[in-house]
Amino acid sequence: MPEYETYDFDVIVVGAGGAGLRAAIEARSRGLRTALVCKSLLGKAHTVMAEGGVAAALGNVHPEDNWKVHFRDTMRGGKMLNNWRMAQLHAQEAPDRVRELEEWGALFDRTGDGLILQRDFGGHRFARLAHIGDRTGLELIRTLQQKAVADGIEVFMEVKVLRLLQDADGVVSGVIGYWRPSGEFVVFKAKAVVMAAGGVGKSWMYTSNSWESTGDGHAMSLWAGADLIDMEFVQFHPTGMVWPLSVRGLLVTEGVRGDGGILRNSDGDRFMFDYIPSMFAAETADSEDEADKWYDDHSAGRRPPELLPRDEVARSINSEVKAGRGSPHGGVFLDIASRRTAEDIRRRLPSMYHQFKELAGVDITAKPMEVGPTCHYIMGGVRVDADSTATTAAGLFAAGEVAGGLHGANRLGGNSLSDLLVFGRRAGVGAAEFASDRSGPGSLDEGQIGATIDAAVAPFSREKGENPYDIQHDLQDTMQRLVGIIRTGSELDEAVGQLDALEDRANRVALSGGRRYNPGWNLATDLAAMLTVSRCTTLGAINRKESRGGHTRDDFPKAVGEMGGLHFVERISAQGAGAEGVGGTPSIRSVTVDPEPVPALPDDLNELLEEAN
Ligand code: FUM
Repeated sequence: MPEYETYDFDVIVVGAGGAGLRAAIEARSRGLRTALVCKSLLGKAHTVMAEGGVAAALGNVHPEDNWKVHFRDTMRGGKMLNNWRMAQLHAQEAPDRVRELEEWGALFDRTGDGLILQRDFGGHRFARLAHIGDRTGLELIRTLQQKAVADGIEVFMEVKVLRLLQDADGVVSGVIGYWRPSGEFVVFKAKAVVMAAGGVGKSWMYTSNSWESTGDGHAMSLWAGADLIDMEFVQFHPTGMVWPLSVRGLLVTEGVRGDGGILRNSDGDRFMFDYIPSMFAAETADSEDEADKWYDDHSAGRRPPELLPRDEVARSINSEVKAGRGSPHGGVFLDIASRRTAEDIRRRLPSMYHQFKELAGVDITAKPMEVGPTCHYIMGGVRVDADSTATTAAGLFAAGEVAGGLHGANRLGGNSLSDLLVFGRRAGVGAAEFASDRSGPGSLDEGQIGATIDAAVAPFSREKGENPYDIQHDLQDTMQRLVGIIRTGSELDEAVGQLDALEDRANRVALSGGRRYNPGWNLATDLAAMLTVSRCTTLGAINRKESRGGHTRDDFPKAVGEMGGLHFVERISAQGAGAEGVGGTPSIRSVTVDPEPVPALPDDLNELLEEAN
């Protein structure tokens, strides 16, 4: 077995996006020896793809806004499957987290009075998104990163974490991984671990996610005994680039629609008026005149249908394209040029301006963009206690995209940045308290460490076998075609068979060269997690025989009352835990799925929702 080096901390945070950074800052502020371990370079996380803003009921633009309205919007957007306590804490605490960010140096855009400016986004009743042009996630990361480094948090970059390590009592007590550049193995011992490793988008062909988002955090938590919930709910952001092919899926911020952008099909029709669901009919404009008036004065008329929640808009675009009314490259047209001055567009949406100019040769101040749905976010994830973020695996906490519950069946845009600030902080508190109650990390199991390392290097000893890039391609193709934006039972069953076959192939991967600078090996070590989360999403989708939020079944096109009262919970079966999956992980065939009732809302929150209806 190759050697490994060891570090020892109180709290280890896996992932250095917004949630991980915020968790580490909190744990460190409580005097704990804290380290961040990340797969990529510091500052490079999917957080930057939340471009348009952070949702918080500051009431700077609309003084009527408050946490209760934000709570209600979040629950309705999530089709009531949200963890109500998370939705409550999120709405209550987001304004403080945004103001704190400002104190730490974030340079928000301003109202005329010098307050933090807020913009409109889908599903939010009031203009609620505090923003920095269309670079909000980037500024958030920059601010938190600067604070983390100034606070003395140690950062270990370019470490691929392979597994969580548990002591003899099963308490999570560290992680094992390797340095991506050198291939040398490394163990981090810890009294508590915060999982903040982000999402799963790279298992789909067209995604706004970059190479890091391979579901590592979801899978590692599951393998360590944590529950995953509602993994069928995957968000296809309505607007990704569709052309050129090399950048297909790249995000086009919802801020474009928030700032007045409208969607048209190839006939020139503003088609969103044809897709207003009854749940939102009372508050959505049903004519162009009415919708346009609203942009000038929010108290006149109702909201434009382009600002319906993302699941509704993405499905509508999909239907237009399927009906043959798409744009030349298989999307629809998003027009901001006829709605705002060129100067306004360049000032408010600078990244979009450059992105289209440089990548597609399109000047968005003069011409519409071609856009279509792109896999952006997973609402499902590791089940956590709302207050502490503790998972069902002792010693493990989770926050950010990897955690499930807050967003229910569909996330509202802008609620991810506030999620990771609110629950990143809470994870830091939870982990710090847990770590402070422990005298030290439990002794680690050398057998587990050895087995993980041996399994990771096994592909080098095979002379002939599969190429990891072929498997990644085939996996992305399977998930895009069979577990995409619209699903159906027979295709989901087919996907299960294909995933099993891909697992068998992944167990036969053969690699040449050494461990230093070997991208093929790095991809091979990602496959176990990619296959695991894909299987979880597919099984959840098979079981949820209805359409709700980010999960649409052609064969069950409506929401079914009784399904709205169920979560689907996934675990590794006791018998399957030892079964050989990729790289020594439990086989994807050992994932089980069970329905569990959604806890009832307390009366006071229920009344809030009823008042608003
Ligand atoms: O469209 C966007 O700017 C993305 C925001 C989000 O996912 O929250």
